[in-house]
Amino acid sequence: MTTLPPEIYEQDKCTFFALGRNAMYAACQSLGLGEGDIVLTPVFDCDSTLNPYRVLNLSLDFYKSDPYTFEVDVTDIKKRINKNVKLVHIINHFGFPQPWDAILKLCEETGIPIIEDNAYTLSSKYKGRMLGTFGDFSFFSLYKMIPMIDGAMLRINNPQYSLDISMDKPKWFYPPDWKKVFSLVAVKMGYEYLPDAIKMRILKAEKPLPPLYSDKSGYPEWHLRDAILSNFSYDYYRPMSRIARYQMSNFLRNDRMVLEKNIRRYYRQIVNRLTGVKRLKVLWPIITDEQVPTCVSVLIRSHRDEVLYGLKAKKYAVIAWPTYSGAVIDRGLEFPEIEIIGKQILQLMIPAHRVLKPTADSYFMSLVRDFITLHKRFD
Ligand SMILES: Cc1ncc(COP(=O)(O)O)c(C=O)c1O
Repeated sequence: MTTLPPEIYEQDKCTFFALGRNAMYAACQSLGLGEGDIVLTPVFDCDSTLNPYRVLNLSLDFYKSDPYTFEVDVTDIKKRINKNVKLVHIINHFGFPQPWDAILKLCEETGIPIIEDNAYTLSSKYKGRMLGTFGDFSFFSLYKMIPMIDGAMLRINNPQYSLDISMDKPKWFYPPDWKKVFSLVAVKMGYEYLPDAIKMRILKAEKPLPPLYSDKSGYPEWHLRDAILSNFSYDYYRPMSRIARYQMSNFLRNDRMVLEKNIRRYYRQIVNRLTGVKRLKVLWPIITDEQVPTCVSVLIRSHRDEVLYGLKAKKYAVIAWPTYSGAVIDRGLEFPEIEIIGKQILQLMIPAHRVLKPTADSYFMSLVRDFITLHKRFD
């Protein structure tokens, strides 16, 4: 485990779980949260992230964020604080930091603990300090950043809190992840991409969903929206599997500095090529050397869904994050900004394992070329 950045992995502060949701659940238990307690959480988030709060019967209130920067609206958070608010959830989106000075000030004033969500962030800094060291609790969904079948880390920064839980000894893998193990074996056998027939029939792959339809009103029906997913409910304290531990220790042996430099290089190249393309807006066109972005987030004025499916069909790593919860969708009038993100966002992922491949240059060049071509065709 020592291959994680030393600023975020400290043995006495960190615990490894299967998922970020397991880490969140453990943090809530450490705080003794229960029915009647309110969690303030951003409107821009996936329904599944809320699973731990829902199984603990916590009440949710949502706060605003800027749709063009994803920056949390600290004033709106302040307005929503009352005596029942027992936790504030802050996401550092895709390697980009939130305004931690203002958030920590708020934390000091109110005494309400913060859970810092780094689900899609690893190794980025804010004013020289590593993300993951700000909240009272922080977590990382390592398996989203590194090719691993599962794996997340909870870090407790505030010595006032501790974990008093008993976790089972990690197993090689767990039933909810059998598809990932199957795919791993297939890759070892030489398949870079599994044939679609296998994905559809055996693995029952789901089509990625847009948050809201881009060119008509409404949103896709989704039978698992707001469901407590079995990969989380299998064991609320599921530990990181032994296969994932092995994958992580192997993967991060690569020189992290070189990896991060290359991620930034591809990010800047993609942004350069997208600059000036009509009806596209890159959310964070400028990055500093402190940031390790996970994707280039773009707003496309129309036809986002066609572009998403066109790029997916060509096996590119693209998503339209987030899948909103029903509760957020129901409050669309209060949060009109969910329309902007929901209809227009597209994330071109820059996954570390792609960056490390010898084919990385051509992958990212053709991703941008195909993206622009599709965008122009539909626009
Ligand atoms: C911002 C954010 N936080 C937390 C989670 C939950 O992470 P995990 O899938 O590791 O439980 C997600 C899931 O996609 C997410 O997008």
